[in-house]
Amino acid sequence: MPTPISGFSKLTKEEKINWLATQYSFETKNTIAVLKSYWNNDTKLQQLHDEFIENTISNFYLPLGIAPNFLINQKLLAIPMAIEESSVVAAASRSAKFWLERGGFKSTIIGTEKVGQVHFIFKGNGEKLTNFFSEIKTKLLSSTKHLTQSMEKRGGGILDIVLRDKTDVLSDYYQLHCTFETKDAMGANFINSCLEQLAKTLKNEVKNYTGFTVGEQDIEVVMSILSNYVPNCVVKAEVSCPIKDLKVKADITPFEFANKIVRAVQIANVEPHRAVTHNKGIMNGIDAVVLATGNDFRAIEAGVHAYAAKDGHYRSLTNASIKNEEFRFSIELPLALGTVGGLTSIHPLAKLSLELLQKPSAEELMQIIAVAGLAQNFAALSALVTTGIQEGHMKMHLGNILNQLGATSEEKNILTKQFNNETVSHTAVADALKALKNN
Ligand code: MEV
Repeated sequence: MPTPISGFSKLTKEEKINWLATQYSFETKNTIAVLKSYWNNDTKLQQLHDEFIENTISNFYLPLGIAPNFLINQKLLAIPMAIEESSVVAAASRSAKFWLERGGFKSTIIGTEKVGQVHFIFKGNGEKLTNFFSEIKTKLLSSTKHLTQSMEKRGGGILDIVLRDKTDVLSDYYQLHCTFETKDAMGANFINSCLEQLAKTLKNEVKNYTGFTVGEQDIEVVMSILSNYVPNCVVKAEVSCPIKDLKVKADITPFEFANKIVRAVQIANVEPHRAVTHNKGIMNGIDAVVLATGNDFRAIEAGVHAYAAKDGHYRSLTNASIKNEEFRFSIELPLALGTVGGLTSIHPLAKLSLELLQKPSAEELMQIIAVAGLAQNFAALSALVTTGIQEGHMKMHLGNILNQLGATSEEKNILTKQFNNETVSHTAVADALKALKNN
């Protein structure tokens, strides 16, 4: 039975690992060796990673893959993707090549506005609060000057502060709803610092305001925090081509194929069970590039799914249509990203990924990542409406099965060739490996 510990964070890395091994590793006797085998030999690099988070004991690797041949707004890019799931990079690469031969992807920014809110409770007269807010709005803004100066030099800053009365949904609940432009920074720290200053100014100003009666001066600030729901920080990506150019498989005509893709998107628009999986496939592409470029995929995930449900019904993030013999396929989603600050310049691979992408601005990165999502969805739908997903997926997954079964390099080579023409399943591969070993 393990014992609780206090002061774990104060232990050295070695001590943490030793404690863990004695307390929890009853089965994995080689815990210490496994954890240490993932340490980087370059001690400076390892220290950098150790310091990203707290209580670090080792590194947890994800593969970094490349999907080449992405023509986006006439720029040819090789997209870095950090992801553990087989098939995703292959699918993105396939889509990229397909659309490269049909004019590439077009992407446009619809908006870049970020959001943050000071949530507070006010038990007095709402009209008086509105008057108070009008009087102090300039003071609120000027109190953040020390924080906004350098962002303003880059063309960003606080766009507006609005008092929102939310008492219809929760008694006495109001917000300072603030909008921001953060240019190439994701802006979380900037936004949160501004919000905390605004909350302080709000509390100070309320004390000096003569328009309130006693009791009304007690504004209770509950919290000040950015919102990861950014429905006005949105990007669109699209592809189109004449239907006759959609010859993807011998046994389906371009017209049938285009119609099936349109149907598949319609289904994802009306059926949440399908929409979630449809959008999950899109996020395979989005998250992989978000992660590779040092951005916060949890923030992106939360914001994107809220956007998919913005009209009260969870829907597809992509659209497909046929008009005048032309097939159009597009995606529209919110992406609050940064190409400066945060991990983007500290994590060597995030920095390198951004270099590979030709050092994009945040807007360009939004465009690239939206395209990655669209490409992923196109690949998934193409497979789903034709051969099904398993054929290609299991072929890609074969390597994982062979590794799981402990196959040698030679055995892997032989069986990979053999399964070129056979259906891959865990049992089939296990049987084939057994037969090979007995030969
Ligand atoms: C698997 O990771 C993603 C798919 O399920 C997406 C989809 O069904 O559209 C293939």
